[in-house]
Amino acid sequence: MVSYKEIGLVNTKEMFAKAVKGGYAVPAFNFNNMEQLQAIVQAAAEQKSPVILQVSKGARNYANATLLRYMAEGAVEYAKELGWEHPQICLHLDHGDSFELCKSCVDMGFSSVMIDGSALPYDENVALTKKVVEYAHQFDVTVEAELGVLAGVEDEVCAAESHYTRPEEVIDFTSKTGCDSLAISIGTSHGAYKFTPEQCTRDPKTGRLVPPPLAFDILHEIEEKLPGFPIVLHGSSSVPQEYVDIINEHGGKLPDAVGIPEEQLREASKSAVCKINIDSDSRLAMTAAVRRVFDEKPGEFDPRKYLGPARDEMKKLYEHKIVEVLGSNGKAL
Ligand code: G3H
Ligand code: 13P
Ligand code: ZN
Repeated sequence: MVSYKEIGLVNTKEMFAKAVKGGYAVPAFNFNNMEQLQAIVQAAAEQKSPVILQVSKGARNYANATLLRYMAEGAVEYAKELGWEHPQICLHLDHGDSFELCKSCVDMGFSSVMIDGSALPYDENVALTKKVVEYAHQFDVTVEAELGVLAGVEDEVCAAESHYTRPEEVIDFTSKTGCDSLAISIGTSHGAYKFTPEQCTRDPKTGRLVPPPLAFDILHEIEEKLPGFPIVLHGSSSVPQEYVDIINEHGGKLPDAVGIPEEQLREASKSAVCKINIDSDSRLAMTAAVRRVFDEKPGEFDPRKYLGPARDEMKKLYEHKIVEVLGSNGKAL
């Protein structure tokens, strides 16, 4: 059993309380490898932004659970080395799908876990979430839960109301489970194809797809029912079109990739939304940088020569999110 406190990590309690009051959101960036982690820590340390390092089940399988846990421990020390005296770094399990996985993360030094029972019938989601909360809270580990199903582009009725979180359930769910934050569904979704072209309009000037707006009315209804309660948005990548263009110009194929416009995330950050999940944008930044080097310098075979530019591009992206979208810079001095 490793306590996250010994490693210098923090849970989300204070982070979220400050974010809700301050009208900003804490970035939750997924990581699977060293370059991503370096870029996240560099950006957060430079901007003095609280940050959530997210590890999915897939990331744990890819990189090895033990190694990832030590990488997060290293991240705290690295942040200090970069001059961030009191790093506010949380290590969080993203989309935990079982009690056993959540327990394993709590036992290995995570300071926060998500139990995603959103696909289960309501009562089963309540029971599973409650079980995880009871275990995690013994160790002061915070728990994120989810209500409502994030639509996928494969879903015919992507924006159908039936997938959105039902505001009438949130009080019952949070009080029965004791969860610390709640991920909701208001029209975001995972990946780089958040909407089909049919669900969008086209900007006549640029020819770019313009996605339908998020369901802010549902967000506000939830805020009214749970005043001050931390709300989480998954699937919040914006799919920057400059990365999509670079990828497509250098041998990639991402036709009509589209994300959530930044203005909407800016607006959400000012509300009870205090955690915004971003993974795909970092994947796009990395892929764009690597593809460009491969295309322009076909003789290059030193991984540092393409992973280095990828790391720099990701750092730029993370800083942009922190400063220009979420407003979390300077909030962890
Ligand atoms: O929400 C999912 C995250 O983007 C993690 O994705 O399961 O491919 O690591 P992954
Ligand atoms: P994106 O695919 O929009 O980056 O969402 C990531 C996410 O929600 C991780 O849990
Ligand atoms: Zn997610």
